[in-house]
Amino acid sequence: MDIDKNGAVLPEKKTKPRVVVLTPSHQYPLGGAMSPQRRLDYIHWANTNHAWIIEDDYDSEFRYSGRPIPAMAGFDKLNRTIYVGSFSKIFSNTLRLGYIIAPNSLVALIRRTMNDYGLKAGLMPQQPLSEFIDSGEFYRHLRRVRKIYNERRKFLVNELSKKFSHFGHVQDHPAGMQLIFHLNNTLKDTEVALRAKEVGIALEPLSESTMRNLDYNGFILGFCGYTEGEMDIVLKRLLTLLSR
Ligand SMILES: Cc1ncc(COP(=O)(O)O)c(C=O)c1O
Repeated sequence: MDIDKNGAVLPEKKTKPRVVVLTPSHQYPLGGAMSPQRRLDYIHWANTNHAWIIEDDYDSEFRYSGRPIPAMAGFDKLNRTIYVGSFSKIFSNTLRLGYIIAPNSLVALIRRTMNDYGLKAGLMPQQPLSEFIDSGEFYRHLRRVRKIYNERRKFLVNELSKKFSHFGHVQDHPAGMQLIFHLNNTLKDTEVALRAKEVGIALEPLSESTMRNLDYNGFILGFCGYTEGEMDIVLKRLLTLLSR
């Protein structure tokens, strides 16, 4: 096993991967989308190396401006991409429902594997969900939720830009459920997170999201699950803490 200077385990150099898992429509946590050329390169690589791509598209519904980005599986003419979607973000992760769209040649193998591992999705919510989709309500729900989340996102960007510019800057991207606030180097994200915890604020340090030393220093801030009023209370408390 190879370990780098920060203690992270490095991938074995000699082994060729058989599967890559990608989130091409939205990278977590910084939020970029993979370029069409890079997607094609992956598809060609998978085809040449008899490998597979798992396209994990779990939060692609939340794109707040511009045109929707087509799924990689949609233009993979070489059939190397297994598309995985989830209802966890659109509804709730307590539903435990998702779906796989796989090349025909893999369907029997995936069925057998899921059977062997005993993975079972609850039957109860599937019929109402299917009716919800067929009736068109699903798309109305999606539009409604997207609008609410976008308003919350704009509120958070605005507040951070107006009131926190002394401590860092916002990296906004019109997709997903989180945004990044980069801290100035006079502050350290892990230390601020510890101080924030003492006053009841849970902050996710950006520096803990990387295995390599990339000098990231900031916070990953989720904006979907909180009303503007709730965010306002926490931001005021955080401003007081940072100003001390
Ligand atoms: C990378 C990634 N894929 C998929 C999901 C959705 O997982 P599940 O459908 O099991 O809730 C998540 C949830 O946060 C995630 O972070």
